[in-house]
Amino acid sequence: MQYRAAKGMNDILPDEVRRWQALETAFRSTVERYGYGEVRTPLLEPTELFVRSVGETTDIVQKEMFTLDHHGDSLTLRPEGTASAARAYVEHAVQSREPVSRWYYLGPMFRAERPQRGRYRQFFQAGCEIFGDPGPVCDAEMIDMLYRFFRGLGIEDVQVLVNSLGGPGTRGRYRDLLRDHLTPHAAELTENSQRRLKDNALRILDSKSERDQELVRGAPPILDLLDEADRAHWDALRGHLDALGVPYRTEPRLVRGLDYYTRTLFEIQSSSGGLGAQNAIGGGGRYDAMIQDLGGPAVPAIGFAIGLERVLLAMGEREAPRPLSCFVAPIGERAVGEALKLARELRDQGIRVDLDGRGSSVKSMLRRANGLGARFCVLLGDSELDRGVIKLKDLAGHSESEEPRATAASIIAAKLGSPPPEREEPR
Ligand code: HAM
Repeated sequence: MQYRAAKGMNDILPDEVRRWQALETAFRSTVERYGYGEVRTPLLEPTELFVRSVGETTDIVQKEMFTLDHHGDSLTLRPEGTASAARAYVEHAVQSREPVSRWYYLGPMFRAERPQRGRYRQFFQAGCEIFGDPGPVCDAEMIDMLYRFFRGLGIEDVQVLVNSLGGPGTRGRYRDLLRDHLTPHAAELTENSQRRLKDNALRILDSKSERDQELVRGAPPILDLLDEADRAHWDALRGHLDALGVPYRTEPRLVRGLDYYTRTLFEIQSSSGGLGAQNAIGGGGRYDAMIQDLGGPAVPAIGFAIGLERVLLAMGEREAPRPLSCFVAPIGERAVGEALKLARELRDQGIRVDLDGRGSSVKSMLRRANGLGARFCVLLGDSELDRGVIKLKDLAGHSESEEPRATAASIIAAKLGSPPPEREEPR
């Protein structure tokens, strides 16, 4: 019997993980510069948390949650990170200690969707949330950060879509308006959208059918429903984005598939990497009512998440960084002990090392060192041991030299220009 990973869930093998790590490092370093600190929350949460925050009539809650029953408690694998972060924020009464909190997270999310390129059942998000700032300055700063982050990764064709949904009541009013507008044309809608018309007409806006879209285009945009304060927020947001030089497009029919959004809403799309319909590489918005809905104080919030698989696809195949710096190749039994010691010395110098302890031939060890992308190969046999030297092959420069065994590690470190071994920063 052979086992396979569960449908829509992927293994990521070491060669590929290197690209992931590079992306994660870039994300961390960007958001840390903007003052975000990492939060880690459980993968399982009470199911009710997502029903309450993400929304009962959303696709996620209606059909995509991985839910399990544990001795009568209903638990769900998190389909997204915002609800968990907000739950943790309320649970730990964070607002009593700081007026504004900037959090980020990285990790797997779970949605039982129909898998296709760029859409999986376990996928990874990196996200940010700001609690306690009503915007719109931080809204613009966040969108600018995200736009610059994607451009910095070399992704071409990054499109920023923005919209405003108004206050918590506006979404409901717009849902009713849309229902009233579309009901006379119900027979012309696709079957799926006819069903949506009854429970949540807003979801018809996400329909991919041209027929549905045409009918939707005839409806007034949600921006028409904004009150004065919402409109001032929206105008100021666009003003800040213009001042920052972020190229964006107002997309008046952007609502996104989660029920908690208020006011600012945005999505970042890219047509790179053959993402097709899954072209949203990130998205987010303001959710000013959620903290209170979850039993906390009236604290405004905004956030976004990016899908790491989609970002990697949009980045295209880039050569992974050379993983190995030095390959240590003992020739014959006698050299193995000395080779192990030299490998340890090299690692102590902060150098990545692989060692062949299987008694392989020189030819095959050199082939493997090359295959692994090592910069140097150290050959150590009887003749080198007797003379207290090592043979150093520069695989990139195709040259060869003999170096004293005693100082070999520091000579190689100097040639690699390697930084000193990592030390813990004193706190
Ligand atoms: P979302 O739009 O549902 O928002 O997901 C954010 C991103 O996660 C998407 O733009 C996409 O790149 C990626 N993603 C979503 N579903 C999948 C999937 N099945 N497979 C692969 N990638 C996927 C949220 O999750 C919100 N929590 C964002 C947010 C944070 N809003 C406020 N704060």
